[in-house]
Amino acid sequence: MRRLAEAGIPARIVDAREEAERAIAREITELVRKKPDLVLGLPTGKTPIGVYRELALLHRAGRLDFSRVRTFNLDEYLGLGAEHGAAFARAMREMLFDHVNVSPGNIHLLNGLVGPERAAAHCRDFERAIAAAGGIDLLLLGIGRNGHIAFNEPGSSRDSRTRVVELDETTRTDAAAIFGGIEHVPKRAITMGVATILDAKRIRVLAFGAAKAEAVKRTLALAVGPDAPATFLRGHPGLAAYFDADASALLARSS
Ligand code: PGA
Repeated sequence: MRRLAEAGIPARIVDAREEAERAIAREITELVRKKPDLVLGLPTGKTPIGVYRELALLHRAGRLDFSRVRTFNLDEYLGLGAEHGAAFARAMREMLFDHVNVSPGNIHLLNGLVGPERAAAHCRDFERAIAAAGGIDLLLLGIGRNGHIAFNEPGSSRDSRTRVVELDETTRTDAAAIFGGIEHVPKRAITMGVATILDAKRIRVLAFGAAKAEAVKRTLALAVGPDAPATFLRGHPGLAAYFDADASALLARSS
């Protein structure tokens, strides 16, 4: 594992993504041992799959007890019920919740079916629930090809909170396969804000594969600002990023 500390992002460059996935799963296991009611911020998408697989393995091996762990999901498509094949609520069940002993009452998901008249209150309730839980201890995060974090698309401000957003064309294009065509991808979503994410005590950012190389480079090289919301992560005191060789291929080699 090679370390980079450019531009306020302590990055670990791993030879294989499994190395990062195991390291983060071990870290979460140790944190849960110290604080059984740990509060996690959890993403969906392809990036975190391996971390969830490792967590399930650790649970099955009797080394990780999720019974008091509390979870907050980062985002959800607007208009999708929890049973929809592309809903993040369903992906979370399939990737993690069905494989560990998490208590349903400790799972906090954004509701894709919230109506326009309830949406603002739902977002406020979500923020309040995070605060009532004492804040997020560890938040896992991917980076979109356009530099988004959760569904904070380019243009999102540093002080944004949980809210309804319009999805970017890049984001909708990347989701087209799972929806069976871009015309079926929702145009809007509900997401934790940038400020919600930055309030987490620890943030673990993952990016794997050549498709993320440009976004990783932009995250480290662009001026901090809304053009690439991932730049807002720079300087967060509890941040660690894990990139594989392909995702970090456009970074200058420091060793
Ligand atoms: P992915 O998406 O994990 O499916 O690559 C990451 C993101 O868009 O945040």
